Amino acid sequence: MSDDTTPTDRPDRPDRSEAPLHLSRGGVSLVLGRDAGGIPVVLHWGAALGDLDDAALTAIMAARQPGAARSSYDLPRRTGLVPDGTRGFSGTPALAGHRVGGSARAATPSLVDWVVDVADGSLTCTSTDDEAGWEVQVELGLDDAGLLHARTSVTNTADGDLHLASVLTALPVPARAGELLDLTGRWCKERTPQRHPWVQGTHRRDSRRGRTGHDATLLMVAGTPGFTFGRGEVWAVHTAWSGNHTTYAERTPEGECLLGGGELLSPGEVVLAPGETYDAPRLLCSWSGAGLDPLSHRLHAHLRAVTPRARGERPVIANTWEAVYFDQSLDRLTELADVAASVGVERFVLDDGWFLGRRADTAGLGDWTVDPTVWPEGLGPLVDHVTGVGMEFGLWVEPEMVNPDSETARNHPERVLRGHADPPITWRHQQVLDLQDDGAYADLREALLALLDGLDIAYLKWDHNRDLTDATHDGRPAVHGQTLAAYRLLDELRAAHPALEIESCSSGGARVDAEVLARTDRIWPSDTIDPLERQHLQRWTSLLVPPELMGSHVGGPTSHTTGRTHALRYRAATALLHWFGIEWDMTSLDEAGLTELGSWIALHKQVRPLIGTGTLVHPDHPDPALMVTGVVAADRSEAWYVVATVGATDTQHPAPLRVTGLDPGRTYRLTEELPPPPGGADLTDAWSADGAELPGRLLHEVGVALPVLDPEEARVLRVVAVD
Ligand code: GLA
Repeated sequence: MSDDTTPTDRPDRPDRSEAPLHLSRGGVSLVLGRDAGGIPVVLHWGAALGDLDDAALTAIMAARQPGAARSSYDLPRRTGLVPDGTRGFSGTPALAGHRVGGSARAATPSLVDWVVDVADGSLTCTSTDDEAGWEVQVELGLDDAGLLHARTSVTNTADGDLHLASVLTALPVPARAGELLDLTGRWCKERTPQRHPWVQGTHRRDSRRGRTGHDATLLMVAGTPGFTFGRGEVWAVHTAWSGNHTTYAERTPEGECLLGGGELLSPGEVVLAPGETYDAPRLLCSWSGAGLDPLSHRLHAHLRAVTPRARGERPVIANTWEAVYFDQSLDRLTELADVAASVGVERFVLDDGWFLGRRADTAGLGDWTVDPTVWPEGLGPLVDHVTGVGMEFGLWVEPEMVNPDSETARNHPERVLRGHADPPITWRHQQVLDLQDDGAYADLREALLALLDGLDIAYLKWDHNRDLTDATHDGRPAVHGQTLAAYRLLDELRAAHPALEIESCSSGGARVDAEVLARTDRIWPSDTIDPLERQHLQRWTSLLVPPELMGSHVGGPTSHTTGRTHALRYRAATALLHWFGIEWDMTSLDEAGLTELGSWIALHKQVRPLIGTGTLVHPDHPDPALMVTGVVAADRSEAWYVVATVGATDTQHPAPLRVTGLDPGRTYRLTEELPPPPGGADLTDAWSADGAELPGRLLHEVGVALPVLDPEEARVLRVVAVD
C-alpha cells in the first residue's frame, strides 16, 4: 500500500480508564472519546497517530473540547456517534421511526447511557432507550488495510411494532476536506465524476431504483481541495447495499462535517416486531493522506478478501452477446468456440437467447429451461464441445426477471412483483419476479440448480435489467425484502456449487457494490465496450473495485453502442489490465487478425499474475487528454502502464510521465512493450533504442518523455527492477 503516512501499526488497546479509545491499523487511526454526558464521539479518523498513552488520549479529548456558542444550546457542541437532535445536532438525524399509537418518544430514541466494548480490534457501542424501545448498536472496526467498517443495528425492545424510517451511519471528517467528489451516470455511461466545493447543506446521492443503479455513486469522497489520484488528503464512504440506499455529505452552519450512508426505507418497509433486529448496510470508510489511489487500495484489499473465489488469475473470456446476439445455433457457436480456443480464450460464455421462447428480448425470461427449437439436443453438445477444446463454459441468466410473454407469467401471474401500476410497466418488455413469494423463489431456485446440476457450468453471468421503482409485497414496499431474497438465492446456489463463479451484471454496471461483490466474482461495469468510454468509466469504477474483478472486453472495430471505430491496439490496451475478454464475432477475422488478437491475449496472460495481486495506480498527468493506468507488483519489482489518450493532447509534446508506485530506491528498466502503431511516433527515439534504465526516484520525481500521441491511441509500458 503506497501512502505518505508512516505505518505505526500497533495492537488495538482496550480502554483502561476514561481515556478515549484508540484503534490503529493499516496506517489509519480511529479515536473514540466520550462527551461530558458519556456519549461516544469520534475524535479522529485519519492518519495513524502512533503510540498514545492514556494521558495523551485524554489530552486530545480536552484539546478538542469546543465551547458553547452564543444564541445556541448551552452545552459544548460535539456530534455524537449517532447524530441526532437530542444533543443539538441540526443536520440529518441518523435514526427515525415510529410506533402506531405509541409515544412520540419512539420517533427518535434518546441514547444517553452507552456501553462501549472492545473485542477483536473493533468497538461495539450499545445504548438503549427503554421508553422509546430502541436498542442501538454501532460497530466500528479497522481491518489490516486500515479500512474502517461501520455498521448500525437496531433492536425493538418494547411491546408493539417499531416502524423504521431511517437508520444511517455517519462519520465526522475534518473541515479541511473542502471539496467533494461523487459519481453519477446512466446506461452506457456509468461512473461519471462530479466535483464541487463542499458547501453547507446536505449533498445526498439517493438511489431508489431497487438495484444499486447506473448512477450509484459508489463512493462519497471529501478531500483537501484539488486532490487527485496521487495528491491530497481524502476520506470516503461506500454504502454496501444493492437495493435502495443513500450516501451523503453534510456540513452544518455549526461546523459539523459528516460523511454517511444507509438504506433508503419506504414507510412500512421494515417493521420490527418485539425483539427483532435490523442490521443497516455496512459503511466502508477509507482514508488516504496521498490521494485517491491509496484510498482505493484499502477498499480493494477488502473486496479481494471477501470476493468468494478471490484468486490471482482470471480466465480470459469469450462472451457471445455482441458476437451473435440472439442468432444462436450449435454450428455457429461451436465455430466461434473453436476460434476462441485457438487464440487463447479460456472460458466461453453463452449469453442471452438460449432458453424457452427467447428469440428476442420480448419473451422467455422466467422460463429457465433450454429452448428445444434452437437447441434440439439441449446445451450438452455445446458444453461438451467447449470443454473438449479446453475451455470452461459459462451461461447467462436473469433470475429476478420475468417477461409477461413467458410460461411463468402465464401460469403464475401472482408471482409478478407489483406496485401501483397493475400490470407493472414493462422495461425492455420485462417485469420482476417477486422473490418473497415462496413458490416463485422455490421454483426459481430449483430451475437454476437443475441447470447447474445438469451441465458443466463454471460461471453464471447474472443479469438484472430493470429498475424496481414501484414494488410491493403483501401490501408493503418490497425492495428491502427483494434485495435480501436475491442475496439468499446467490448464497444458496454458491453453497450447493462452491466452485461456481458469478458475474454481477445489471444492464451493464447497475449492480456494483461491496455487498454483491461478497457473493459474486466480478462485475460488468457497463454495456458499452467502446474503449474511449471505458477509459473513463473503468478509471472511476476502480475507485471501489479492483481491476481483476472488473470485466473488460475487446469488441469489434466499430462499437455497437456508440458507432465509434477504434484500432485493436486501443481496444485491447483498454482491457489489458482488467479481467480480459473478447466480445466480437472472431469468425469474421482473417489469419492476420487472429494472430494480432492472440498476441494481445498472450500479453494479458503475461501481465495477469500482477493484476490480481498488485496495486492499481493512476499517475497524475497535467494533460486531461492523457490517462495513465498501471499495475505494480506487490513487491514493486515490476509494473505495467497503459498510456491512453482520450482526445487530442493540449500540447504537441505531452509533458513527461511521472511514473508512480515504484520503489524510489531501486533501479528499473523501462521499455515500450509493443512497437509503435503504424504511422505513430516512435517512443524509443525519446529514450534509447533499448529503453531506459533509471532509479525509481527519478522515474517518479523527474519522469520520462512520452511520444507525440494521436487522439485515442494507446501505448503499453513495462518497468522491471534490475537490482
Ligand atoms: C444486458 C447485459 C448485456 C447482455 C444483455 C442480454 O443488457 O448487460 O451484457 O447480457 O443484457 O440481453
